[in-house]
Amino acid sequence: MLLRQETAIDQEAIHAVHVECFPTDSEARLVDQLRYAGRLAVSVVAEVEGEIVGHVAFSPVTLASGETGIGLAPVTVLEAYRRQEIAARLIEAGLDACREAGFGWAVVLGDPAYYARFDFRPASEFDLIDEYGGGDAFQAMELMPDGMPMGRGLVSYAPEFAVFE
Ligand SMILES: CC(C)(COP(=O)(O)OP(=O)(O)OC[C@H]1O[C@@H](n2cnc3c(N)ncnc32)[C@H](O)[C@@H]1OP(=O)(O)O)[C@@H](O)C(=O)NCCC(=O)NCCS
Repeated sequence: MLLRQETAIDQEAIHAVHVECFPTDSEARLVDQLRYAGRLAVSVVAEVEGEIVGHVAFSPVTLASGETGIGLAPVTVLEAYRRQEIAARLIEAGLDACREAGFGWAVVLGDPAYYARFDFRPASEFDLIDEYGGGDAFQAMELMPDGMPMGRGLVSYAPEFAVFE
């Protein structure tokens, strides 16, 4: 399996993977819209024998103070390729790319039992809250020492996420 950043020729395959993995095409269109808006900050694909079998997207999130972090969403792996830690490797590679891009902190809305392995912790420990009432599902981590800014509070996702409100 090859993990790599997306290129222009991957866009249709990435769309198709999300359509196949979610009940509606909302996530597929979200990724397209983030890319179009220039807010698909990190986009990593998993490729097996030339086929895109998984994808993870990261887009900027902001605090009222103007500080910018990175939000992980969505992540998908085709059903036939699941439970081989492809998602885990996509997420690790994506977080590394975010770190290299200079992002100091990351957030995710997802199952704490899964995301704890990447050092995500309840966002409430950082005094961060989300727009969706995610509760314990809203998690955060520092990508570098002291990467979490002061002046915390409400974390706003990119406007393209408004479709999920
Ligand atoms: C969520 C999703 C991306 C996970 O993909 P994946 O490649 O199967 O993920 P991983 O292999 O890293 O881990 C998934 C689970 O498989 C387990 N697993 C990993 N390798 C395993 C193995 N060799 N044997 C058994 N289980 C294994 C992991 O422990 C994890 O289980 P847990 O959450 O109960 O701890 C995939 O199921 C998917 O695309 N779902 C639909 C879209 C979705 O809901 N995305 C998340 C919200 S954005």
